[in-house]
Amino acid sequence: MNPIRVILQRLAPAALLLALIADLGAVAPPADEGKARIAAGRARFDQLCVSCHGEHGAGVAGSGSGASYGPKLTARSDLAEDKIRDRIIHGKHGDKAMPPWGTVLESTEIEQLVAYVKRLAATPGGQSTGPLAPFDLNDETRINAGKRRFAKTCAGYCHGFEGIGGRAPDFKGRTDLPAEMAYETIYKGRQGADVMPPWGAAFTEEQIWELVAYLQYLGKQQP
Ligand code: HEC
Repeated sequence: MNPIRVILQRLAPAALLLALIADLGAVAPPADEGKARIAAGRARFDQLCVSCHGEHGAGVAGSGSGASYGPKLTARSDLAEDKIRDRIIHGKHGDKAMPPWGTVLESTEIEQLVAYVKRLAATPGGQSTGPLAPFDLNDETRINAGKRRFAKTCAGYCHGFEGIGGRAPDFKGRTDLPAEMAYETIYKGRQGADVMPPWGAAFTEEQIWELVAYLQYLGKQQP
């Protein structure tokens, strides 16, 4: 027999083992990947599901009436992962119907929704589930990316350089701006005495979180 072939045959089980080990590594995703999946699921939930299930899955006020009512999804220890996945894929017929998404969404998109709804279900009742940063907000690279974006897009017109002395409140030394709130404000904008435009369509989720990381960093500086 061809000697190279013999060597390859001897190596085959080892290669198989290596492939298996690599596979096992893929089964347990790093924490950041899990967070990114939940964040992506949340973005999609905001587009497709809030009309019936309410913001952050909290349910819709005046529940029980109208066709577009879905049950609340927070504090639902009865909602197992399999059931969540099954409902999203197949929906449910009835006078209050849950539309099926299995033919509309890719399986990765469905898994992102499952991850987010699972998180909602594990959230105690009444407590709103804010968005979740897909990376560590103290990461210096992210803070610097946010700083560059802030200098380019936000400073000058409304917010001052390094967030001081613009038409908006200073950011340095601010402790009353939780990360989730900052994220929501950048994402949706805000209508106060002045108008803060929404950036949700212009920036990706990650870019917004980098801005939040920078604002959190500024909040820790001396005013
Ligand atoms: C048109 C309104 C509507 C939309 C949009 C909608 N749902 Fe639903 N959803 C429902 C209704 C109604 C039910 C309850 C169905 C039943 O069990 O009778 C439901 C049930 C569910 C359940 C199971 C909850 C339970 O108590 O058993 C999950 C999970 C769920 N929806 C997730 C989603 C997700 C994720 C999206 C977005 C991709 C979505 N829904 C969009 C109306 C909606």
